[in-house]
Amino acid sequence: MKRILFVDDEPNVLQGLQRMLRPLRREWDMAFVAGGSEALQTLEGNPCDIIVSDMRMPGMDGVLLLGEVKRCYPESIRIALSGHSEMEMLCECTRVTHQYLAKPCDPEMLKTTVDRAIGLQALLSDDKFRKLVANIDSLPSLPKLYTEIMEELSSEDGSIGRVAEIIAKDVGMTTKVLQVVNSAFFGLVTHVASPAQAAMMLGVDTIRGLVLSSKVFSQFEQDKSGLDLAAVQHFSERSGALARRIAMAEGQPTKTCDHALMAGMLQDVGQLVLANHLPGEYAEVARAASASDWEAEQAIFGCSHMEVGAYLLGIWGLPNPIVEAVAHHHCPGQSVGNDFSPLTAVHIANVLLRDGGGDSAETPGLDLDYLQRLGLHERLPVWRELCAELHHMEELT
Ligand SMILES: [Fe+2]
Repeated sequence: MKRILFVDDEPNVLQGLQRMLRPLRREWDMAFVAGGSEALQTLEGNPCDIIVSDMRMPGMDGVLLLGEVKRCYPESIRIALSGHSEMEMLCECTRVTHQYLAKPCDPEMLKTTVDRAIGLQALLSDDKFRKLVANIDSLPSLPKLYTEIMEELSSEDGSIGRVAEIIAKDVGMTTKVLQVVNSAFFGLVTHVASPAQAAMMLGVDTIRGLVLSSKVFSQFEQDKSGLDLAAVQHFSERSGALARRIAMAEGQPTKTCDHALMAGMLQDVGQLVLANHLPGEYAEVARAASASDWEAEQAIFGCSHMEVGAYLLGIWGLPNPIVEAVAHHHCPGQSVGNDFSPLTAVHIANVLLRDGGGDSAETPGLDLDYLQRLGLHERLPVWRELCAELHHMEELT
């Protein structure tokens, strides 16, 4: 049984949670405590898989408590409970929490969030990697884009349009901004159409607070990992654009097309994690003789950037179709769905862009069995045409 700790100083809230979650007592091992110090005592010798904590508490508040939990039990998933209006709290707690829920908490939302967090653990079976990913609070950005955004945000007349444009080009910044807008602070029905729209929703003042005070962005330092971050960013941006076009050509709803764009952009976020945190081992990936990066990663780490990236996006609360697309983008046959999804679009975009959009009968890396399962294998010429159009547009600009 997964162990979940709930922390809130208000007795009514704590009793309400206990009552509400009582039917789940056979599925979850739950503990309820009234404050930060008590929470740390409870965790001693018996760590939890997930902690859900109020943020405003006397004595040790939620930021301090979750900071301690992060330090002592980095593998635990940390969820903050806070009020909608506390925008400054969002900035304070963003480095110590994975997700935020609004108070008063909707029971279904809480159950879904905790259930989903438990389910995600199956994505990444190795404890060492789960710990590494759960301990991440920022992702490295390209130094050029990092400098540009710092300058724009430090300027008194920094423009949100320009800030959004920079964020949309950078995988690390995009992921962080999507984590924040996917929190309950922005309502449960909000649909985010693109990284640029996510930045617009936050506004320049909130992004300034997050970046300058809470330091949620960081700079990639060229190290011994050998990862060409600029190439990863460029490929991700193009994959997102092509994945969106493919979804549109298949007559998919707007939401699926938008998810395809973001999943394409974020598909290789796991490479940033591995290269940034395990640079020595990552350098071996480039030297390995395997047919592809993900197979070399699998051989060296026992897992690939697909599972690592998907786990990060999942615990940061990004929508399931994006997490699923990232989890299987090189081998979609491992997914369970039989319908077109952002995963389908990202897989095709990835393979066609790597193949150079040629028209050879053989397309290395394309999972034809998966496409046949979906009844879509005959659509390949249409997608090739879209890829060629994208190449053509790129040549013109
Ligand atoms: Fe990939």
